[in-house]
Amino acid sequence: MDLEQARRLWSPEPGWLNTATYGLPPRPAWEALQAALAEWRVGRTSWEGWDESTGRARYAFAGLVGVPPSRVATGATVSALVGLVAGAVPDGARVLVPEEEFTSNLFPWMVHADRGFVVRTVAARDLASAVDRHTDVVAFSLVQSATGEVADVDAVLAAAAEAGALTVIDATQGVGWLPVDASKADVLVCAGYKWLCSPRGTAFLTVRPEVAERIRPARAGWYAGEDVHASFYGPPLRLAADARRFDESPAWFSWVGAAPALELLAAVGVDTIRRHDVGLADRFRAGLGLPPSASAIVSVDVPGAEQRLAAAGVRAAVRGGRLRASFHLYTTEADVDRAVEALVG
Ligand SMILES: Cc1ncc(COP(=O)(O)O)c(C=O)c1O
Repeated sequence: MDLEQARRLWSPEPGWLNTATYGLPPRPAWEALQAALAEWRVGRTSWEGWDESTGRARYAFAGLVGVPPSRVATGATVSALVGLVAGAVPDGARVLVPEEEFTSNLFPWMVHADRGFVVRTVAARDLASAVDRHTDVVAFSLVQSATGEVADVDAVLAAAAEAGALTVIDATQGVGWLPVDASKADVLVCAGYKWLCSPRGTAFLTVRPEVAERIRPARAGWYAGEDVHASFYGPPLRLAADARRFDESPAWFSWVGAAPALELLAAVGVDTIRRHDVGLADRFRAGLGLPPSASAIVSVDVPGAEQRLAAAGVRAAVRGGRLRASFHLYTTEADVDRAVEALVG
């Protein structure tokens, strides 16, 4: 599907420059969700039809990040998925995290202080050079949520490989607009409700099989069973052999909305989406007299930005005292120009 066709499937109110907080659903996602809610209201169906969406979303996500679906687990939040991984790391681990990191990939490490974890933070741009031979884990965002800075993933992964450290990437602010190869990292986590235009309550974990061996499926229930439909009652423990054993029982309606959104983004193609999103981000930057950057998230210091944008009907965010504006495939040039005018006019 081409970009223009896809864009017609969204109907945002003008001025939404805040996908880094939450993304908006395309019409097929919205309609699928409404249909499921209508079924739920009157008890028209059983849950199996809704649950097909979880598998479809897993498949589409796997394609977006270049790994087989057998390496993808589904969950509800990034923090819980990182927590699962942190629980598998031995006592006394030395963990390196960017100081700007969103806390969903920081607190799950810090809560293991009683097991002797030492969490060290450095500026994101210094991450690769801060890895040393004592480092056991490097946990970082592909794109920083507060600043939009895109990590030098290859440099960080190379430094981690040399140290023999586990790598855990939070790709929440990247997958959907930035090409991502999850196979390069030991673990990658991603929330669905931002750039993947899905409802809250959808998140993914990709894990290398040899790393998966070391992770306890601590949230396993019937849904993590090898045969879900034969896992409702009683022993023995019979979990899926692949990454599905890490699945959390799904929030059905969230997944019903997620599958069509992910499939649509995959059909448009991430390279196309990136060109559009970064093009608009750079248009915004140019309007403010800034050079282009390679990110769909722009962080700028403009005095009074919040009030000026609000008065113009533009919804953006303030992070760390700076304005954060973010641009996705449903964002228009008119949205950008409205924001620029409000800020510099
Ligand atoms: C980089 C990043 N990771 C994760 C999240 C959300 O985490 P969780 O799913 O744990 O609420 C956000 C939300 O802003 C984020 O920016």
